[in-house]
Amino acid sequence: MPAPAGVAVSGPRRVTRAAPALGCHGRPRIDSGDGWDVLGVIGDTSRVLLSTDRLTIRRFHADDAAALAAYRSDPEVARYQVWETPFPLERAVTLVAALASGDPEEPGWFSYAIDLDGTLIGDIGVKLHRNRRQAKIGYTLAAAYQGKGYATEALTAFLGHLFTERGLHRVSAGCDVRNVRSARLLERLGFQSEGLRRRHIWIKGEWTDDLLYGLLASEWRACPSAGDEPA
Ligand SMILES: CC(C)(COP(=O)(O)OP(=O)(O)OC[C@H]1O[C@@H](n2cnc3c(N)ncnc32)[C@H](O)[C@@H]1OP(=O)(O)O)[C@@H](O)C(=O)NCCC(=O)NCCS
Repeated sequence: MPAPAGVAVSGPRRVTRAAPALGCHGRPRIDSGDGWDVLGVIGDTSRVLLSTDRLTIRRFHADDAAALAAYRSDPEVARYQVWETPFPLERAVTLVAALASGDPEEPGWFSYAIDLDGTLIGDIGVKLHRNRRQAKIGYTLAAAYQGKGYATEALTAFLGHLFTERGLHRVSAGCDVRNVRSARLLERLGFQSEGLRRRHIWIKGEWTDDLLYGLLASEWRACPSAGDEPA
């Protein structure tokens, strides 16, 4: 059971969220218990990256393979993603094994599990640039867990981690122009629209238009509901 909001827990720093309060761009405010500030932390020895009111963002482990294969095999979930369905269990086993032992500090793609009370409900992907100051993000929720604010909650905490703990300068994201839920999520998180790449990504038999978004650390920090309080 998650600890009550504002109660310290051992291990990774807990990120609490005042349920109804929305900050800049509709992002949920993050309350660490001592004012509006953020965010999560990482113990090297822990598999948990950070916690929010409802969720844990953690490393993948072998037991996640079946759930990962199940939600990635859902044609609706995969509609605007590059993978094909069904997503074979063997592929999921290989993927979670690589993620379980991989180094998230290294440039390239890495993914974290979004966990709701012990159930894998989705994942956050982050592609760290070689300069380690920029990254792209991606995200997926199993269909049953969409429309409940989980992606906003997980990504608000995760962006805080990227900007505050890892010192990133910029985070980029993109989505198919028809993926309105994804675009809405990015805008809710404070991402700025940066254009559209026409017929840029090959997804499920067609060239697709790709909306571009970016969020700067300065923009994140300027919003007192998210990154550190401005000085
Ligand atoms: C993109 C994706 C993660 C967005 O998921 P989502 O459920 O829309 O986003 P959230 O989890 O933040 O939920 C927000 C919705 O929950 C609603 N909501 C319900 N209860 C809520 C609560 N307690 N707190 C906050 N929001 C809540 C919000 O009103 C919002 O609905 P709206 O967009 O209709 O206004 C999801 O659609 C997905 O996984 N798609 C498939 C994979 C994919 O395409 N990934 C992106 C590739 S670019």
